[in-house]
Amino acid sequence: RGEEVWLIASFGMILIFMFITGYQTFALGMGPPSHQETIDPQQVDETAPFDNPGVKKIADNEYEVVMTLQLFNFTPSEIEVPAGATVHFILTSKDVTHGFQVADTNINAMVMPGYIQKITQTFDESGSYLVLCNEYCGAGHQAMSTTIKVT
Ligand code: CUA
Repeated sequence: RGEEVWLIASFGMILIFMFITGYQTFALGMGPPSHQETIDPQQVDETAPFDNPGVKKIADNEYEVVMTLQLFNFTPSEIEVPAGATVHFILTSKDVTHGFQVADTNINAMVMPGYIQKITQTFDESGSYLVLCNEYCGAGHQAMSTTIKVT
């Protein structure tokens, strides 16, 4: 009798822990964010705005940076925006999950195939900002980097 009680109790504990872990994953947004727009990863080059990646001025002091991430680089590799401008990054991956981390900023995002990641940032200081992939994506992961020039 006593053993059954303990067996049931330990099963209950396991279920509770599984529930907590699952809840944290979704509630804290660690899983794929369901609010992100989706895209066919096979059709990125043919799908706007990714058919024309680059920096575009969309308003006074406001820019849009459309980028694709793929093994093992960022397209375009040359990005230049003015200091103090509002910059909207629109990102997607053409293959596996990559990371988009920009040194000296709070930008640290996951860029997954099938999803469009959007990040808005203002660079207050001019300089060269290092962009790194911080999700292990294969043999060339360490070399996957670029820079954003803020002038
Ligand atoms: Cu891309 Cu690591």
